[in-house]
Amino acid sequence: MANHTKETKQEVKTRNFGQNIESDLAAKFLRVVEVAAIESARTMGQGARKLSDQVATEAMRQTMDNIPMRGTIVIGEGERDEAPMLYIGEQVGAEFFDGSEVPEVDIAVDPLEGTNLCATGAPGAITVLAASERGGLLYAPDCYMEKIVVGPSCKNAVDLDAPVADNLKNIARRLKRDVDDLQVVVLDRPRHEKLIAEIRAVGARIRLIGDGDLSAGIAAAVEGTGVHAVMGSGGAPEGVITAAAVRCLNGYMLGRLIIDKPELEERITRMGIKDKDKIYEAQDLAPGKQLIFAATGVTDGSLMKGVRFFGEGTRTSSVIMTYKTSKVRFIESIHLEKGPDVKVKFT
Ligand code: FBP
Repeated sequence: MANHTKETKQEVKTRNFGQNIESDLAAKFLRVVEVAAIESARTMGQGARKLSDQVATEAMRQTMDNIPMRGTIVIGEGERDEAPMLYIGEQVGAEFFDGSEVPEVDIAVDPLEGTNLCATGAPGAITVLAASERGGLLYAPDCYMEKIVVGPSCKNAVDLDAPVADNLKNIARRLKRDVDDLQVVVLDRPRHEKLIAEIRAVGARIRLIGDGDLSAGIAAAVEGTGVHAVMGSGGAPEGVITAAAVRCLNGYMLGRLIIDKPELEERITRMGIKDKDKIYEAQDLAPGKQLIFAATGVTDGSLMKGVRFFGEGTRTSSVIMTYKTSKVRFIESIHLEKGPDVKVKFT
C-alpha cells in the first residue's frame, strides 16, 4: 500500500502561497516603490539628501506593513543600531491576513538610490527593491563591489580579470559593432581614473555618472537604451539588487567584493562568506527561484520618467519584473486626488 503523508490544511496553504510569491506580491511591491518615489520626489532639488532618503524610507516601511507577508530585510538602510527602520534583520509585513498563512520573503531595499541625484534634481534617482523566497538574495556586506553588467547578447563575453580592452572588444563583437560605437557607464570617482583611461584608450565612449550604478546596470541589460556596459566599483548591496533585475532581464553580471579592511574580513566571516575573492554571477548574488524587482523613477532616467505632479494627482513611471513568471512590466500610474473636478489627461 502506498505510504501517503497527509498534509494539514495549513501546510497546503503555506505550500501554495510559497509557490506564488511573484504573482501574489509583485503588484503590492509596486505600490511600495511608487509611494516612496512620490514622497522623495516632493523633496527634489531641495539640496537635502538625508531628508529625501528619510521620507522614501518611511514611506516604504509603512507601505510594506500592509503587505500580507512575513518579510525580512536582508539588505537595507544599515545595521539595527545605525538605522531606525528598514535595517538588516527587521521584520516587515502584515503577518496575519484574513487568518491565512502568509509567504516568507527576503527583501533587499534601496529606498532612494541616488540621494544626491534627487537632492539636486539630476536624472537617474529611483526607489527600488528586490524580493525572493527565503535565502534568495545574498546577504552582502556594506562594502564596495567590482562590477561588470552587460546585456543578454554578451553572456560570458566579459571577465573581471581580463584587460578592459579585451572585454570591450568582446562586447563590441557580440553586439556586431565597432568598439568606438559602445557606450560604457562608469561612476565618476577618482578610484576609476585608470579604468576610464583604459576605456578611452580603446576608443569606446563613456558616460560618467555622479551616482546610480544600479539603474545604469538595469539599462545595460535592456537593449535599445544605448548603454552597452557598466564597469567599475560601486556598492555591494546595490550589486545584489542589480543582480535580481539582471536575472529577470536575462542579462549578464559579474561582481567581486572589495574586502580591503580587517573589519570587513571579520564581517564577511561572520556572514558566512568563505571566499572573499569569489567572482559572483547574477545567479550567485540573487539565487532565488522566485524574484521580484520593482523600481519607480524619482527623477527622469533612461527607462523611467520621474514623478510628475499635476495638481489633481501624481503620475509615476515604474518597472516591475518577475523571474519565474518571466514578466517585465513598465507601468505608468496616475494617482488621483479625490475631488469633483478631477481630470485625467491622455498624453
Ligand atoms: P546613494 O543612493 O546612497 O546616494 O548611493 C548611490 C551610489 O552612487 C550607488 O549607485 C553606488 O553603487 C554607490 O553610491 C557608490 O558609492 P560611492 O559614492 O561611495 O562611490
